[in-house]
Amino acid sequence: MHCVREVTENLWWVGSNDRRTPLFENIHPIPEGVSYNSYLLLDEKTVLFDCVDWSAAPQLVENVEHLLNGRELDYIVLHHLEPDHGAGLWAILRKWPGATVVSSLAAQRFMDQFGFAPLPIQRLMAKEGERLSFGKHSLTFYAAPMVHWPDVMVSFLEPEGAFFSADAFGTFGALNGRLFADELDFPHRWLPEARRYYANIVGKYGPQVQALLAKAKGLDINLLCPLHGPVWRRDIGWFVEKYDLWSRYEPEDKEVLVIYGSMYGGTEQAAEALCTALTERGVETALYDVSAVHVTRLVAESFRCSHIVLASVTYNMDFYPPMRDYLEDIKALGLKGRTFALLENGTWAPNAGKLMGEFVAGELEGCTLLAPKVTVRSALRGEQAAELEALAEAIEKSVKG
Ligand code: FEO
Repeated sequence: MHCVREVTENLWWVGSNDRRTPLFENIHPIPEGVSYNSYLLLDEKTVLFDCVDWSAAPQLVENVEHLLNGRELDYIVLHHLEPDHGAGLWAILRKWPGATVVSSLAAQRFMDQFGFAPLPIQRLMAKEGERLSFGKHSLTFYAAPMVHWPDVMVSFLEPEGAFFSADAFGTFGALNGRLFADELDFPHRWLPEARRYYANIVGKYGPQVQALLAKAKGLDINLLCPLHGPVWRRDIGWFVEKYDLWSRYEPEDKEVLVIYGSMYGGTEQAAEALCTALTERGVETALYDVSAVHVTRLVAESFRCSHIVLASVTYNMDFYPPMRDYLEDIKALGLKGRTFALLENGTWAPNAGKLMGEFVAGELEGCTLLAPKVTVRSALRGEQAAELEALAEAIEKSVKG
């Protein structure tokens, strides 16, 4: 059966939710699922905005068929051709082969490379600032290259003031019938997943997101319609501010993220002792085991927090492999401007602190390293309390300074 939601009188959500795929892009865990958003405009012309993942294509076809109610589909606007949106095009074109596919030139090339168009189709290339009229509605296109892929375009629908933002402003999580952000407890229950989506999917492209935000600033946006997650009709500015912070790599919170890699508990105990000392000093902390918490969550928390403590065992004279995975990830995603502190462990030849320090100084842009470093030999000893306090004091000064 169809499953659609009305966005406005003429605009409908016709996408679908995926609770079966365990890993988004076969890498990011999505225990709460994900939505693939498509929208349908019913005007003098009928317009489908974006498609869905292949697995969700039958639902998309059923939804569109229900709302068209016998009408033809005139246009398919593709803002982004990555297969989580583009693959369903194949099923739509099989049903409505006369529709004109509107996209960037890059998206048309990718469409052919992936083989998403089963038949010869009518194509229209969209360029920056171009406008298409569908009757009472008109759509203006804006290029947003690398707001995930080079093909990305966004568009602005009038008179609704609907901004189709492609992957930008997306969120992990299936919608479960609740389409609008104001139908969810977004700030508490959804924001961490929105941040995890942003940091891991779009995080590398901060300057490109900044360019998109600059273009969007001149538009009177009433509806924010991303390709994943809820539609925004209220408090749009609140979410835009989050994107502005994230894409400038500015932390949201003055808080200390403590990430530890521990084999037998000694490093874990020392990390917990440091968190205790920081809490007693009135400093907020978040503590994670690098072996137990997925790196995508650690990345998201790194975008949120101002300070990061790396606590690692020495392993083959290096630091702990999962810690290297984490550091390589935040480097690849371009995280910058954080303040780091170090805690190392080594039963006979502690070396993790030196190497983690070299990574922070040499590989992460604009990051600073606090001087005190605590070295644990197997387990933290009582007589090291002063060392731990010195580290906590330096972190406190930096956080509150
Ligand atoms: Fe949701 Fe870049 O695709």
